[in-house]
Amino acid sequence: MTNIDRRQFLKNMGLVSGGVLLATSPWFSAFSEQKHSIGSKARIGIIGPGSRGQFLLSFLVQNPKVEIVAICDLYKPSIDAALKMAPKAKTYTDYKKLLEDKNVDAVVIATPLHLHYNMAMDTFDAGKHVFCEKSIAYSMDETLDIYNKYLQSNKVFFVGQQRLFDPRYIHAVEMVHSKKFGEIEGIRAFWHRNNDWRRPIPIDATDKQINWRLYSDCSKGIMTELACHQLQIGTWAMREIPNKVMGHGAITYWKEKREVWDNVSCIYVFDNGVKMNFDSVLSNKFYGLEEQILCNKGTIEPEKSKYYFEEIPPAPAFLQMINDVENAVFGSLPFAGTSWVPETANSNDGHYLLDKKPESDGTSLLLEAFAEAVITGNQPPLIAEEGYYATQLSLLGHQAMAEDRTLIYSDKYKIEYLNHKKQTVF
Ligand SMILES: NC(=O)c1ccc[n+]([C@@H]2O[C@H](COP(=O)([O-])OP(=O)(O)OC[C@H]3O[C@@H](n4cnc5c(N)ncnc54)[C@H](O)[C@@H]3O)[C@@H](O)[C@H]2O)c1
Repeated sequence: MTNIDRRQFLKNMGLVSGGVLLATSPWFSAFSEQKHSIGSKARIGIIGPGSRGQFLLSFLVQNPKVEIVAICDLYKPSIDAALKMAPKAKTYTDYKKLLEDKNVDAVVIATPLHLHYNMAMDTFDAGKHVFCEKSIAYSMDETLDIYNKYLQSNKVFFVGQQRLFDPRYIHAVEMVHSKKFGEIEGIRAFWHRNNDWRRPIPIDATDKQINWRLYSDCSKGIMTELACHQLQIGTWAMREIPNKVMGHGAITYWKEKREVWDNVSCIYVFDNGVKMNFDSVLSNKFYGLEEQILCNKGTIEPEKSKYYFEEIPPAPAFLQMINDVENAVFGSLPFAGTSWVPETANSNDGHYLLDKKPESDGTSLLLEAFAEAVITGNQPPLIAEEGYYATQLSLLGHQAMAEDRTLIYSDKYKIEYLNHKKQTVF
C-alpha cells in the first residue's frame, strides 16, 4: 500500500476528519506527516519466517521503504521460502548472529511463543526495534519484563495485533466510543473451529517442531493463539482492563496426543460488573468467530462488519395483520407477551459497518506503521500497551482455568494504559 493508497484508505473509512480516528485508534499517528528524509528505509531482519513470518514478509517486501536485510531460521524450508521473497537477505541459523548484524535496524519475531522472551529481550539489548508476534510471551512475568525492557530502550515496540488496523474494527470501536449504541453491557467473544489444529509433518521435521501449539511447554493453546486477539477488542472497546477472571478448560473431543485444551470458556469481569466472555470449541464451527459488543441501544459484530439497533422499525401493517390472524388461529404459539415477535428470534438484519468488503485484515497497515516507526524512531501511542494487555489477559485466563479458581488481576502487572513516553522523536 503506497502513501496515496493509504490516504485513499483513510478517506474511504470516513474517519479522517475531526481527529476521530486518532481518538479511537491513536496508533494511526504513525502515519502523520513524517520528518524523515526522502529515501530512508527500515532495514529489517526476520527471525522465524514460518507460516506467519512468510505472510508478514509478503507485505514487507512490497513496501518501498523496507529492505529485508536478514533472515534467521533453524529450518531450511523456511529459509528457502523467505529467500524467494527477499533474495538479497543474509541468512542465519543463530538469531544472536543476526542481532550482531549492523545492517539490521529492526527485527520481526515470528517464532513459536516460548521463544519470544529471549529473542525480544536480546533484540532490545542489541539496540534494535522490535515487532513481536502475539502473544508477546509465555508468562505474565516475561511479558512484563519485555515491556519494561522496551520502556528503558529508545526503540519502538509493535505487537502482531492486526485488528488495530482493520477497517471493520476501527469503525466499530469508533461507533462504540461515540456512544451511538449507549453503554457497553457485555462482550461475547468466541472462536470456534472444527479441526484438530494439526499441521502435517514433513519427513525432515518433528511433530513438536511443526505442531508446537499443541505442546504445553511451547504454547498456552487456544488462549495465547486465539483469545489474545479477541480480548484485545474487548479492552479497546471498553477502554479498560477487566480485574477478575474465572473459567474452565478441557480436552473434550481431540483426545489423541495433545497437551492443550480444545474446549475453553472464560468470564472476564470489569469493575462496573460488565462481563467479557470468551469461548472456543474446536469441534463445532457453526458460529465461527466473532466479538459481539452488546450495548443497551445496539449490538456490533465487527468480524461480520455489522451493527444492529435494539429498536427495529415495526413491520409493515399488513404483515402485522397476518400475524395477528395467525396468532388468533394458533393461539398456543410461544410468543412473548402480546408481541407478535417471538423473543428468541433474531429478525433484525442490521446494517453494514462499511460500504464494501475491506481488502485487508489490518496486517499490511500494521507493518507499514511499524516501518514508519522504525524510520522515524517515533512510537505511536498505545500500540505496545494494547498488545501487552491482550497477552496478559490471555495468560491470566489460562492460569484461572489451570488452577480452576477465580483470579484477580494483580496490580503488579498493571502498566500505565496511556503510556505516551515514546511519542518524542529521538
Ligand atoms: N497475528 C496473527 O494473526 C498470527 C497468526 C498466526 C500466527 N501468529 C503467531 O506467529 C508466531 C509463529 O506462528 P507460525 O504459525 O508462523 O509458526 P510456524 O511454526 O509456522 O513458524 C515458526 C518458525 O520459527 C522457526 N523457528 C523455531 N525455532 C527457531 C529458532 N530457535 N530460531 C529461528 N527460527 C526458529 C521455525 O523453524 C518456523 O519456521 C506465533 O507466535 C503465532 O502465535 C500470529
